[in-house]
Amino acid sequence: MPAFVRGDRTPAWAALAALAELPSGPARTFDLREAFATDLGRFERLSLQAPGVFADLSKNLWDDSVRSTLLQLAEQCGVAARRDALLAGAPVNATEGRAVLHTALRAPRGQGPHTQEVHAVLDRLLAFAEGVRDVQRSGIRDVVNIGIGGSDLGPQMAVAALDDHIHPDLRFHFVSNVDGHDLAPVLRRLNPATTLFIVASKTFTTQETLANAEAAKAWFLAQGGTDVARHFVGVTTNLKAAAAFGITTTFGFWDWVGGRYSLWGAIGLPIAIALGADGFRAFLQGAHEMDLHFQQAAPQDNLPLQLGLLDVWYRNFMQFGSRSVAPYHQGLRRLPAYLQQLEMESNGKSVDLEGQPLPYSTSPVVWGEPGTNGQHAYFQMLHQGTDVIPVEFIAVKEPTHTIPGLHRKLLANCLAQSQALMLGKSAAEAALEKPPTASPDVAPDVIARHRTFAGNRPSTTLVLERLDPKTLGALIAMYEHRVFTSAAVWGINAYDQWGVELGKALCNQLLPRLDSGEVSGLDASTAGLLARLR
Ligand code: F6P
Repeated sequence: MPAFVRGDRTPAWAALAALAELPSGPARTFDLREAFATDLGRFERLSLQAPGVFADLSKNLWDDSVRSTLLQLAEQCGVAARRDALLAGAPVNATEGRAVLHTALRAPRGQGPHTQEVHAVLDRLLAFAEGVRDVQRSGIRDVVNIGIGGSDLGPQMAVAALDDHIHPDLRFHFVSNVDGHDLAPVLRRLNPATTLFIVASKTFTTQETLANAEAAKAWFLAQGGTDVARHFVGVTTNLKAAAAFGITTTFGFWDWVGGRYSLWGAIGLPIAIALGADGFRAFLQGAHEMDLHFQQAAPQDNLPLQLGLLDVWYRNFMQFGSRSVAPYHQGLRRLPAYLQQLEMESNGKSVDLEGQPLPYSTSPVVWGEPGTNGQHAYFQMLHQGTDVIPVEFIAVKEPTHTIPGLHRKLLANCLAQSQALMLGKSAAEAALEKPPTASPDVAPDVIARHRTFAGNRPSTTLVLERLDPKTLGALIAMYEHRVFTSAAVWGINAYDQWGVELGKALCNQLLPRLDSGEVSGLDASTAGLLARLR
């Protein structure tokens, strides 16, 4: 394992702090409008083409000196050596002593670590998926994925995104929450004879998934379902626990695949059933091409690297606490939720690789909704609120629907939002307008101040030619490597998640108390709430 160098211990970190604070620096007077006016090459210089994804980074609050110092930061932190260690299968998840090899799941046959095991499972998985897709023979019409976190969000996001590519005679359902309001409405619409349940859990110990799987099995039997073995399959690294549940058809994966990085292998079964073998292989191919780009592209052309460094710049030097993701494609409606787990579970850490407390912030809050819906909800705050929140727009050039007129409106909205965030509107410009809804009782200059937009608000725009399996694979792999990059600079382990455990343990202690009403030893708030909820 390469020695780790924490970002704040490098000369580049100090240089970035100085750049941020320069009188003309990004934290003070740097102005995007001026930057574009005085630099005609800004868009060309600050936009990148990676496999499947074009990125305009020019509407961000950085200049050439910030960008080149960020590249020095990456060099001084040894990001390239850490990347190579990751790809080679070194135990980069040090706290669990595990390799992190989701990239091996999408490497072509014969390439990358563990290729034999990976392709043996993949071949079996795709053969099974094709069998289900042969609906006359399989009799399956509904596929229900029962899983949570990484065993839910990735497949759910991808199946929604690729709706135009999925088998027309199959319906897909995703049940994750231990709240029965998730499972019950799905079950209500199912026929046991035509339903396939996929129980997806890396550990096969997750409370929510096991409870929902038990409930689904009980429903299946109560509805006269026969042949549990044919209607329930498992996806897990814990084949023994799946067998104890009564599942005989299982697809395995390995402890070197993190839950939130697992959609490329057996956890991707719903995606494979939805798309078929060719579509799933195209999804893997797109991701693999992004892996090669991340591995081989020069730092200044390397999209995941640049995005990860920009994230560090915003989080640690501009002190921005969140990033909003606005996919202008309804199919990508679950992308923000997927990215929340990918980024916040990976990088929501406060100690470095040696367990030392960090003196700087790590993961931002990642959140968002598809455009244009978000425009009619929270964009007001993005434009005129007191906090600056970088926005990431995702535009898809070619629609797959043929409804006339809509797509151009969608794209115009996407462009307009990033333009409005940057350009803003001065009080003088606002004063020239005569807004029909303005109260005649309020002085025009006061109205003008309410209608002023500061502008100079940053955004990135990602452009996909089309949303197909290959492009989606590339997009998701780009996000994975971006998260890796900021983690490498921050000197944290992006691949453990100890922070989820305390709540699980306390839940197990509280569960019997909800039956018994026993509150001794509890804090007054928890005791009071428990009494109310019984
Ligand atoms: O609680 C967090 C977590 O461990 C995630 O990291 C994981 O994706 C999810 O739970 C589900 O875990 P499993 O696939 O083992 O059921």
